[in-house]
Amino acid sequence: MRNKRWEDFSEEEILEANIAKYDQDAIVQFYEDFDEPRYSYIEYEVIFTSVLETMRKKLGRPVRAVDMCGGAGKGAFTLKACQPDCQVTLVDLSEKMLEVARRKAGKNRLHDIDIVQADAFSFLEQDNEYDLFVYSSALHHFKDPIALLQQTAEKLSPQGMIISIADPNTLTMSRRYGFLQFSASDWETKKQVMKNKFGRLFGADTKQNSDMPEFDIAEYQTFTGIDDIAFTKQVQNIGLQPLIHLRYPAGEPYITRLLPYIGLYWAFSTVLHKDTEPGYQIYQEQMKREIATNLPFRIKYY
Ligand SMILES: C[S@@+](CC[C@H](N)C(=O)[O-])C[C@H]1O[C@@H](n2cnc3c(N)ncnc32)[C@H](O)[C@@H]1O
Repeated sequence: MRNKRWEDFSEEEILEANIAKYDQDAIVQFYEDFDEPRYSYIEYEVIFTSVLETMRKKLGRPVRAVDMCGGAGKGAFTLKACQPDCQVTLVDLSEKMLEVARRKAGKNRLHDIDIVQADAFSFLEQDNEYDLFVYSSALHHFKDPIALLQQTAEKLSPQGMIISIADPNTLTMSRRYGFLQFSASDWETKKQVMKNKFGRLFGADTKQNSDMPEFDIAEYQTFTGIDDIAFTKQVQNIGLQPLIHLRYPAGEPYITRLLPYIGLYWAFSTVLHKDTEPGYQIYQEQMKREIATNLPFRIKYY
């Protein structure tokens, strides 16, 4: 892997890397142990509520939603909590992640979530239509998120929307972010980072090309981040309109309050709608106000 640049990997190879990664018991266990109420991600509730209420007004019927690459179900469960009558399909390529989702759904008595094992592109080849697609912490797992969204838009109803949430932007490449991440990491990770940086001192093989990723290709864009400003321009070329685009400091509650003071709005969320539905623009200002008011930390709109 280290002899090939990430740019040279194909979408299929990145999919293979994701399949291998989310088949690892240690990774799946992390999601199993993840106690959602303890780490309640308020931005999901606030953004989903605003979008679902707006869509409900336009549709006049329950929203048909897909939590795509939904893993252990955080997005799907939050959709149900925000609007219990919305119809939710949870899609993920990993059967092990979906097993965790099934257990958690049972524990939370959420018996009406449709759970489908499929990779995103295969799922989107099916003939169904939906009103809302959620990509939660997911777009960075794709080589070409724009191509994915183009295919997603084809399965949207005319009033349909797409929410992308909890993806990293390019601030993850800043020194400030690197320092913060280093400070918050455990000792083993710190050692690894030091080893990579000062390889010779620790006896590492320094002949390896330092441009090559040290991490698996499934996570490459976690480290580089996605250029979210370019992203919102590119989606317009495929007929999607950004209704809301915010940067925010994702993480545990105390971190989210502190990070804005050092400018680290390192995550982004975008709400997109189809060009064919200009009627949503009239809700834009109200939605932005609602979201900014209900979030307990500072955000930035773009
Ligand atoms: C970082 S996890 C996020 C899980 C969940 N959305 C959340 O917010 O907790 C990424 C998930 O995407 C899934 N995934 C990665 N590539 C995928 C693809 N091409 N199609 C479907 N699922 C994919 C993985 O199996 C994993 O469950």
